[in-house]
Amino acid sequence: MDVVSGKTFYLETFGCQMNVHDSEKVAGTLLARGYIQAETPEEAGLVLYNTCSIRDKAEQKVYNRLRNFKRNGNGKLFGVLGCVAQQEGERIFDRAPHVSLVCGSASYPRFGEMLTRLEAGARRVTGLSLDTEETFDTPFTRRDNPHRAYITVIEGCDKHCAYCVVPFTRGGERSRTAESVLDEARLLAEAGYAEIQLLGQNVNSYRDPSPSGWNFATLLGRVAEVPGIRRVRFTTSHPRDFGKDIVDAMDSNPAICDHVHLPVQSGSSSVLEAMDRGYTRDDYMRRIEWLKGARRAYAISTDIIVGFPGETTRDFEQTLDLLREVEYDSLFSFKYSPRPNTPALTLPGIVPDEEKQRRLVTLQESQRAIQIRRNAGLIGATREVLVEGRNEALGQWIGRTSDNRTLNFSHPGNGAESLVGRLLVVRVTHSGPNSLVGESVTVV
Ligand code: 5AD
Ligand code: SF4
Repeated sequence: MDVVSGKTFYLETFGCQMNVHDSEKVAGTLLARGYIQAETPEEAGLVLYNTCSIRDKAEQKVYNRLRNFKRNGNGKLFGVLGCVAQQEGERIFDRAPHVSLVCGSASYPRFGEMLTRLEAGARRVTGLSLDTEETFDTPFTRRDNPHRAYITVIEGCDKHCAYCVVPFTRGGERSRTAESVLDEARLLAEAGYAEIQLLGQNVNSYRDPSPSGWNFATLLGRVAEVPGIRRVRFTTSHPRDFGKDIVDAMDSNPAICDHVHLPVQSGSSSVLEAMDRGYTRDDYMRRIEWLKGARRAYAISTDIIVGFPGETTRDFEQTLDLLREVEYDSLFSFKYSPRPNTPALTLPGIVPDEEKQRRLVTLQESQRAIQIRRNAGLIGATREVLVEGRNEALGQWIGRTSDNRTLNFSHPGNGAESLVGRLLVVRVTHSGPNSLVGESVTVV
C-alpha cells in the first residue's frame, strides 16, 4: 500500500490514562495532517502501538501484536510509541525489523517532524531523548469521549520508587503553565464537556512554571471554578506530596468529585522504606484522617503491590490490616514485577511467584468483602450520576457517581431518548461488590 497517498492509520493503546490521553493527541496530530483513522490494522497504512511497560505482561502484548505482522506486513509502516519504545529503544528494530518508528512519550512534541521523515521514506526514525523541558500540548487533540475530557497538567516523574519504570520511560517532571491548563478547560467547557480529569504521574507535585508558581491545590480549585465544568477529577496522587490544602480545595469546590485515588503500595513501613516511597504507614494514615475528617465524604481508592522483595508474611498481614483500617472503596492490586533499570532489581528476599499469587488472592478476597459491605450501605441513598452509556441487554443506563462508583439504573422511556452526557439523580436499590443498581429520580 502507498502509505503517503493512502494516509490511513491504526492506533492501539495499552496502559494508563496518561497513555490513553497521549493517544488522543497523537491521533489528533495525524488527523490534522490528513490521515484517516482505520478500525483495524489490516486496513491501515501506518500501524501504531502506544505501549506500557509497567509490568512484564504489558510489554509482552506489543511484541505479540508485532509478531502477527512479521511476514505479512504488506508494505505497512509500524511504529512503537510510549513506554516500551522508550525502555527498549533501538532494540525494537532488532526484535521486530518491520518497525520503522520508535518514539517515547517525552519526544511527542516532535511527533509531527518524525512523521514527515517517515512520509519521506525514512525507515528507522527514533525519538528517544528524555532530556526535555517540553510538554506535549497540541490544539489537535481528538478526544474519545464527548462528555469527559482529560487534561495533562504534569508529565514525567521525579520520585524514583524502587520498583517503578516510569522515570525511565517518561523522564523527569515537567509542569504545564496554569494558564494553558485553564485555557484548555475553558475551551472544553464551551465545547460542552461536563467532566474534566486532570492527569499526571504525580499531580500533587505540580508547580506552575510561570511566575505565579501555583501549586496543585490552587490549580485544582481554579479549574473547578471554570463555568460549565460540572465535575473535576484528578489522578494520580503520591501520598508524600498530598497536602492538606488539596483536601481544603476539595471541600470548598463542589465541582471537585468525592473521590481520591491515593496509592499506598504497602501497609508495612519497612516495605515502604525499601520501596523508597518517602512516607511511613503513620504518615499515610494522617492523610486518610484528613479525608475522613473532611466536610464531605470522600471515596478512597488505592494501589497495592504484593510480593515486593523482602516482604514477609508479617509485612503482608500489615497490608491486610491497613485495608481493614482504611476501608477502601476500591483497590487495584498487583504482583511485584521486576523492571529494567529499577533499584529494586538488586534487593534480596525475592518472593516466589506462588506466594505472590497467594497474597494477591487473599488481598482481593479481603477487599471484596469490604466493598460488598460498603456498597450495601448505600442502598436507599440517592446519588447524582453522569450518564456514560447504555446496557441494552439489561435495559439500563450506565452512570458514574461523583465518588467514582458505577451505578446502573432504569429510567422511564427505556432508552428512546439518549441520556448519555446528562447528570441525573438516581436512587440506589441494589448493590454488588463492584457496582450499584438503581432507579432515576429526577433530571437535574
Ligand atoms: N510491579 C508491580 N506493580 C507495579 N506498579 C508499578 N510498578 C510496578 C511493578 N514493578 C503498580 C503500582 C502503581 C500502579 C500504577 O502500578 O501499584 O501505583
Ligand atoms: Fe504504563 Fe506507567 Fe507508562 Fe502509564 S506511565 S503507560 S502505566 S509504564
